[in-house]
Amino acid sequence: MFSRTLGDDAELRPLEPWQATEFAAYADRVRDALTPWIPWAYTVVDEASARAYLQGYADRQATDTGRIFGLYVSGALQGGVIYRSFDAAQGVCEIGVWLAPEVRGRGLITRACRVLIDWAIDARGMVRVEWLCDPRNEASIAAARRLGFTHEGTHRKAFHLDGEHRDVQVWAIVT
Ligand SMILES: CC(C)(COP(=O)(O)OP(=O)(O)OC[C@H]1O[C@@H](n2cnc3c(N)ncnc32)[C@H](O)[C@@H]1OP(=O)(O)O)[C@@H](O)C(=O)NCCC(=O)NCCS
Repeated sequence: MFSRTLGDDAELRPLEPWQATEFAAYADRVRDALTPWIPWAYTVVDEASARAYLQGYADRQATDTGRIFGLYVSGALQGGVIYRSFDAAQGVCEIGVWLAPEVRGRGLITRACRVLIDWAIDARGMVRVEWLCDPRNEASIAAARRLGFTHEGTHRKAFHLDGEHRDVQVWAIVT
């Protein structure tokens, strides 16, 4: 399988429906660390739901409207980065991220996102890359700032998760 190295024995690899067993096990392992912020942490609960989630991204990849990559460290799945949306005609995409707690604090997401941002802008001509997060998600805000995103504003009660209508901060890089 091809991969894109991030250094320190870390790499990005495609994450595809045939990896549903691995993704379901990963979801079980990191669920408690992701449920405060990540919707799939509620819905990916077994191999079938993991396959459905990955198939959704396979379909989006086929239509050039989204992509998912696994972030592997020493060969183990530890995180992910996604083009949650990808609109080539508009030149606008949104990036999403997550990491297992034990590999946070090493700059892995910063490096992985630079790969996605560079590809979106340099290879695909995107003019706007978005990053959306909960105003209480300090680690996500720090990552957005580190990557050079600018905070543009906050949509109030724009996202429903875990029984709560949450505000959403909009960050973006524009060319
Ligand atoms: C958001 C999340 C991915 C950020 O993870 P992270 O490890 O803090 O981010 P990075 O991989 O970019 O690492 C940055 C940290 O590594 C440190 N670091 C070490 N080497 C580094 C390097 N070469 N480059 C950049 N940062 C480096 C930074 O100082 C920073 O640590 P600090 O926060 O203590 O200052 C993680 O907190 C997470 O998975 N949260 C749950 C899911 C989530 O909220 N996703 C976002 C939804 S909007």
